[in-house]
Amino acid sequence: MKKRVFSGTRATGRLHLGNYLGAVKGYIALQNNPEYECVYMAVDVHTITTPFDHQTLRGATREIIVDYLAAGLDSEKAIITKQSLVPEHTELAFIFSSVLSIARMQHLPTFKDKVRQHPDNVTLALLNYPALMAADILVYKAEKVPCGIDQEPHLEITREVARKMNELYGTDFPQVTRFVTESASVPSLLGEGKMSKSVEGSSIGLTDDLATIKKRLAGAPTDSGKGEKVPTEGGVANLLKFVELFEGVHRRKEYEAQYVGSGIRYGDLKQELAEAIDKELMPIREKRKELEGNPEYVDRVIKEGAEKARVIAGATVKEVKEKMGLG
Ligand code: TRP
Repeated sequence: MKKRVFSGTRATGRLHLGNYLGAVKGYIALQNNPEYECVYMAVDVHTITTPFDHQTLRGATREIIVDYLAAGLDSEKAIITKQSLVPEHTELAFIFSSVLSIARMQHLPTFKDKVRQHPDNVTLALLNYPALMAADILVYKAEKVPCGIDQEPHLEITREVARKMNELYGTDFPQVTRFVTESASVPSLLGEGKMSKSVEGSSIGLTDDLATIKKRLAGAPTDSGKGEKVPTEGGVANLLKFVELFEGVHRRKEYEAQYVGSGIRYGDLKQELAEAIDKELMPIREKRKELEGNPEYVDRVIKEGAEKARVIAGATVKEVKEKMGLG
């Protein structure tokens, strides 16, 4: 039997370069590998665990899926849909919440971060976020999850839930592992932390045009361009990381030599980098335009993806309920 892969992206806006290099490229590699059956979703139910706009949620979720398809996900090779069309996820999440302690969930760094960000919106749904994520993965008995390292605490919960369920009820949930892509962590343009949709100025959108890419890079902090040692953190370090990602490690080495020598001219570096990023994004932008002209196709991918997903997810939930004396 094929091994299953699951991954999801929260519907909080369009995809950016961090999502693309850190996750979606990994999704594509796995969908093209015949050993795996892949399920990729815009996880819109996760979005409601923090403050959100109910008038734009449906559209934002769809945007994620259009970006997925533009970036190269293929509905012939992978199941692509949105989470809220597969209610088995939330059903299994409730069941999983019965084997997770409140204390364990409260201590997760991801939970604490969200509490700091939204101190007035600490809901039960937020506390239960990892149970829903475990359900996303285990409802397909998926073994591999392409995602960023920041998700590791959630994968640990997923492994714990699988062990507990197997022990208590005789299910056969697998132990999940993270699928590591080449450049799992894409830095913020601002010099601190990772690229994030929610931090203004930190990201480049997946379908930004050259002018926008230039504007974004212009805002990235730099220094005088020379010194005794090449910085290992902050704005310059991050710019050099981008050079490496889009122009190769050789070009990075050249800039490093300039830094300790005659000095880097950041205007030129940013211009060249913008062009390299633009070149990589051009086919994605073109595909996206094509998809925008064919909304029926996108609707069909989402609907058919959900139908395929429900066949697998329904069988898992049925098995779990039978083993637990439910239903
Ligand atoms: N928590 C993930 C994030 O914030 C999104 C997510 C939800 C996910 N369910 C998932 C990722 C299942 C991988 C697998 O990025």
